[in-house]
Amino acid sequence: MKKIIIGNWKMNPSTLEEAERIFSALNRLTKNFKKTELVICLPFVYLFALSNVKCQRSNVKIGAQNIFEEDPKNGSRAFTGETSATMLKGLAVEYVILGHSERRARGETDEVVNKKIKAALKAGLTPVVCVGENERDSDGKFFEILKNQIKNTFAGLKKNDFSRIILAYEPVWAIGKSERDNLKGADLHEAVIFVRKVLSEIVGKTAAFNARIIYGGSVSSANVADIISNSRVSGILPGRASLDPKEMKEILIILEKLK
Ligand code: PGA
Repeated sequence: MKKIIIGNWKMNPSTLEEAERIFSALNRLTKNFKKTELVICLPFVYLFALSNVKCQRSNVKIGAQNIFEEDPKNGSRAFTGETSATMLKGLAVEYVILGHSERRARGETDEVVNKKIKAALKAGLTPVVCVGENERDSDGKFFEILKNQIKNTFAGLKKNDFSRIILAYEPVWAIGKSERDNLKGADLHEAVIFVRKVLSEIVGKTAAFNARIIYGGSVSSANVADIISNSRVSGILPGRASLDPKEMKEILIILEKLK
């Protein structure tokens, strides 16, 4: 299976012109790489314009960074200022990041993320669901916190749902740091085994073993080889690096060379 890069542009860049410039540069880049799939998760305001680029046979797939958990299509009430999964599906949007720590920090609970996952699946979007501990302690208590977060976030989901869901393990303390302060591949491997073990309690061993797990938190060309080869995750979720076509090229070159 191809490795997947899910770029999270967060609230960047500041203009549509800049967004189009970076997106087109990434699009040109991906034409030369066969073993990696690239998804860029854009701010809402750029989705419409860049889905038109997509209609002109873009290689880069498009994702959003959030949806609202209710959907007027299913008869729910009015929600000023929100965007439903069905609305996004009507554009060329295929993926949506859900439960990013920056949203959780602003009050999004596991229960809300759970509803959003269900709404995304129902509308036919691929949910990229972020989980990860805020900090690590030497006693390993963070494992318990991570376990509860995973159990609540994915409660009630079925085996089949996991053929579509991508789980992004993003330890919050590793986001927005330098490559030096980032999680190392060997430690990531341990965390991924733990995540699969917890998932197996929800959807059974086979679905948990096959679930697509990616890593996010200060991924760059300096650490991507260690992350992928030592943890065997299915891909990465870079933030800052995904806005820099030169850096993305380096990452793509490295991924292409890895087995
Ligand atoms: P970063 O962001 O790569 O800039 O650390 C990752 C994320 O927040 O998803």
